[in-house]
Amino acid sequence: MPEEIKIAPSVLSADFARLGAELADVATADYVHYDVMDGHFVPNLSFGLDILRAVKASTDLPVDVHLMITNPDEMVEKYLDAGADLVSFHYEATAHANRLVSLIKDRGAKASIALNPATPVSMLESILDDLDMVLVMTVNPGFGGQKFIESSVRKLRQLRRMCDEHGVSPLVEVDGGISAKTVAKVTAAGANVLVAGSAVFGAADRGAAIADIRRAGLAGVSKTA
Ligand code: DX5
Ligand code: ZN
Repeated sequence: MPEEIKIAPSVLSADFARLGAELADVATADYVHYDVMDGHFVPNLSFGLDILRAVKASTDLPVDVHLMITNPDEMVEKYLDAGADLVSFHYEATAHANRLVSLIKDRGAKASIALNPATPVSMLESILDDLDMVLVMTVNPGFGGQKFIESSVRKLRQLRRMCDEHGVSPLVEVDGGISAKTVAKVTAAGANVLVAGSAVFGAADRGAAIADIRRAGLAGVSKTA
């Protein structure tokens, strides 16, 4: 059962022209979530290494890098060099997940594998024990502001069962359509790192939005069966 809830605002929904001020506004969060999109793995383009360096220089929070790219094998090392503290690459994008996980951990960062909504958690069976985190996508990646996919809840429960069977407890991150309204069901099902883009940066008071999501998430944890 998760004992703590971590909030990771996604800067994809921030005002890029004033990124420094936007980052200062979310200082009460636990991570900064940084979405890298390449226009191939997902039908959208976001930001890359230079802006990651700028983000790192403008926040004290650890940066959680979500690579939505077709070639994580070629790029992971560069994101580690640029200061990624936690790296999620997509299961669907590599044939060499073990090699990437080892590389990330050898560099002292946390290693995570992301699963698209249509990818079953069983795909992680043979690598689960080595992961610091699993990222369960709760929308099809590519854009902020999409609707939460309800079938993700069952997937989270399956993941929790799998972790129990393996005797491991990686962090479990959810990403997409997360807000104070949707969060309780995912924390009740085992999620403990909550990415929120539009729900945080779309709010006038970002600190209050983070506190609301945290409160609603913790209420869900107390309902864990
Ligand atoms: C979607 C990205 C998300 C996105 C979430 O592909 O991976 O991190 O920023 O945005 P919201 O919270 O608005 O759904
Ligand atoms: Zn993301």
